[in-house]
Amino acid sequence: MNPSERPRNRFQIDQSYDWNFAHVPQAVEASPIEKLPGDWKFCGKTVNSPLGIAAGPLLNGDWVRYYASLGFDLLTYKTVRSGVRECYPLPNLVPVSSEMMDGTEEVTPAASEMNGTWAVSFGMPSKEPEFWKNDIRKTKQSLNSGQLLSVSVVGSMQDGWGIEELGADYAQCAAWAVESGADCVEMNFSCPNVCSEDGQLFQNPTEAATVAESVRKRIGSDVPLLVKIGFLPDNEELAELLLKVGEFVNAFVSTNSLPTQVSQADGELLFSGASRGICGRAIREASVDQIRRCRTIVEKHGLPVELIGVGGIETAADVRQYLDAGASSVQLATAPMVNPQVGLLIRAEWSEGTD
Ligand SMILES: Cc1cc2nc3c(=O)[nH]c(=O)nc-3n(C[C@H](O)[C@H](O)[C@H](O)COP(=O)(O)O)c2cc1C
Repeated sequence: MNPSERPRNRFQIDQSYDWNFAHVPQAVEASPIEKLPGDWKFCGKTVNSPLGIAAGPLLNGDWVRYYASLGFDLLTYKTVRSGVRECYPLPNLVPVSSEMMDGTEEVTPAASEMNGTWAVSFGMPSKEPEFWKNDIRKTKQSLNSGQLLSVSVVGSMQDGWGIEELGADYAQCAAWAVESGADCVEMNFSCPNVCSEDGQLFQNPTEAATVAESVRKRIGSDVPLLVKIGFLPDNEELAELLLKVGEFVNAFVSTNSLPTQVSQADGELLFSGASRGICGRAIREASVDQIRRCRTIVEKHGLPVELIGVGGIETAADVRQYLDAGASSVQLATAPMVNPQVGLLIRAEWSEGTD
């Protein structure tokens, strides 16, 4: 496509993270979007719909306002850190095969065009805290009633640190987010792109609980605390994580992505053979299944936590599938990045009862 013909209403995947940070589409000045019929709650707070944007597409407050104007009510500010971190180099988003995955795949073939699924390679960049704290403050004030701002945070492991120090770093970010006006905080325990302890916490329930406890103590019991987890096919491991971390959080957000290597047509591996998170259409069934398995564990143990469904949602029927599996609300990333109208389309399908 000729660059001048490219739609300017969405993230441009051939441009850098910094370019996209600075080039945000204008929020749509339409009449306020109506509440979706139903009684929607998010960690005890009343919201206009169960539709959210996951940590990722909302790079800053302007991106939050853009999607808040397009039918999304739970807006997650992309993961921030206690210090500056640059984004990985391009390509950050590589379209891949969209065949439904089950989590056992080790390699996913790259595709010549986007068909709902891509490999994500950002490395959780962050601006300095002063920037994002001010940005969150302004952003919160611009949202309508029935819309919530959640801020995703991650700790940044330093040489010589142990889990206590990492927990304190998560807690510092969470406290800054709350001071700045965040309605809730989401701890990212699952980033398959970062080969360090902070990226893989969901695979270590004891350390995950230490961090969650530290964040909970720091922000107090009134602020909803969510935790984003990756894919755990083993039910016992999933149960251990939910039981240990569930004591300190209000909700589990699942699933981040399915990590695999990415191969090109000539068989060569992209990203020097490192795994990247596969997001979008192909991870939906595995992610719905994980919500279903979480629900069984939560019910069996009477855990007072909500489940937020993420992964491959594109239609009202997909939203319904997650709600039926046990989620109380959902978050989308890939579909609204590809088609920013998707929230409005889901609402229209929902109202027409065509889901
Ligand atoms: C461009 C992009 C950036 C992302 N960045 C983050 C992030 O910073 N923190 C995080 O917890 N998840 C991140 N994710 C994962 C999403 O939150 C979500 O879990 C995943 O994309 C699955 O949802 P989807 O299938 O609707 O894309 C990112 C995803 C995408 C597509």
